[in-house]
Amino acid sequence: MLCLYCAPIMSACVVPIPMLYALLRSFLFLLPAELSHDLGLKGLRLAHRCGLGALLRYEIPALPTTAFGLQFANPVGLAAGLDKNADYLDALGALGFGFVEVGTVTPKPQPGNARPRLFRLKAERALINRMGFNNKGVDHLVEQLKRRSWRGIVGVNIGKNLTTKVEDAAQDYLICLRKVYAYADYIVVNLSSPNTPGLRSLQFGEPLQALLTLLQQEQVALSQVQQRHVPLLLKIAPDLSDEEVTSIAATVRKVGLAGVIATNTTLSRTGVETSAYCGEAGGLSGAPLTRASTAVVQKLAAALAGSMPVVGVGGIMQGADAVDKVAAGAALVQMYSGFIYRGPALIRDAVLALQQTRNG
Ligand SMILES: Cc1cc2nc3c(=O)[nH]c(=O)nc-3n(C[C@H](O)[C@H](O)[C@H](O)COP(=O)(O)O)c2cc1C
Repeated sequence: MLCLYCAPIMSACVVPIPMLYALLRSFLFLLPAELSHDLGLKGLRLAHRCGLGALLRYEIPALPTTAFGLQFANPVGLAAGLDKNADYLDALGALGFGFVEVGTVTPKPQPGNARPRLFRLKAERALINRMGFNNKGVDHLVEQLKRRSWRGIVGVNIGKNLTTKVEDAAQDYLICLRKVYAYADYIVVNLSSPNTPGLRSLQFGEPLQALLTLLQQEQVALSQVQQRHVPLLLKIAPDLSDEEVTSIAATVRKVGLAGVIATNTTLSRTGVETSAYCGEAGGLSGAPLTRASTAVVQKLAAALAGSMPVVGVGGIMQGADAVDKVAAGAALVQMYSGFIYRGPALIRDAVLALQQTRNG
């Protein structure tokens, strides 16, 4: 609803959306990355609450897509990590995403790593982050989900607390799974953040099989009790050998997961060697990740042989990158860094490009 004071501003506003976003971006990009991230999200939520969200929103064509038994208005989603606590869900959803993934959430609130922990590599259209799962805890996220008014598809990405030993990680995933199950459309087991020590080791062999089996069994039990099927997905890293991708694919098939999200950020610094931030620890995302992530989508999709959908994420900076992910075998795509650099225009570009491909 448009508030009393904002309606006149909106009707008087003749600045086209791309120019408005460019103006906002040039202001926000003057600030340190994490501060501009927080201010940008708070501003977006305020605009949405005042009924001014339309100033930042493009007309997004419908491109209905079905995956893991869910109906998506379009196949372009927001990747995990931007809205860790579901504090901005309604405002983000209203921009036209086909789905929004919130989290990573952990059982207990935790502050994450010391700041600065987010770096903007402008020339490379990239980000490096070592946030370390900063979040307000699963109970807060659940309260936010109960209050949401956006009716699009919402995924919840779950993780473990820093203080929980890797050997005990299953308990943290179980706590989150049980708490979010009634409020999520799908749930993602995140084993691929490079910023929680030891987490990525759970992506392999026996530890992966044991953890996923436990969680999938719990999913089946919850779906029976709650009479609601909430698909369980796994999110993987891009820094995997071909053999590792094949082995993960075999495990998720055996366990009977609903899908896989590929990929998280990379530890590689290829493409950003000349940046002042190249030496910063953390995961690299954005343009330098595009090809590596698409290659993982391709290998994974081939290994899964159509047994379950793949969600392609990593370096989608323009419509063509989304098309490449789908050509590589993705059923859905997600974006994070590209959205920071290009704003809501990228949602429209991706949906339009995918629509064109679908129409042949
Ligand atoms: C600042 C930042 C925080 C992130 N936090 C999370 C997270 O909490 N959980 C997660 O699964 N992925 C997280 N990611 C990874 C993104 O969801 C995405 O997989 C990755 O950035 C690659 O996509 P992109 O190139 O479009 O950014 C984060 C990425 C960034 C840049």
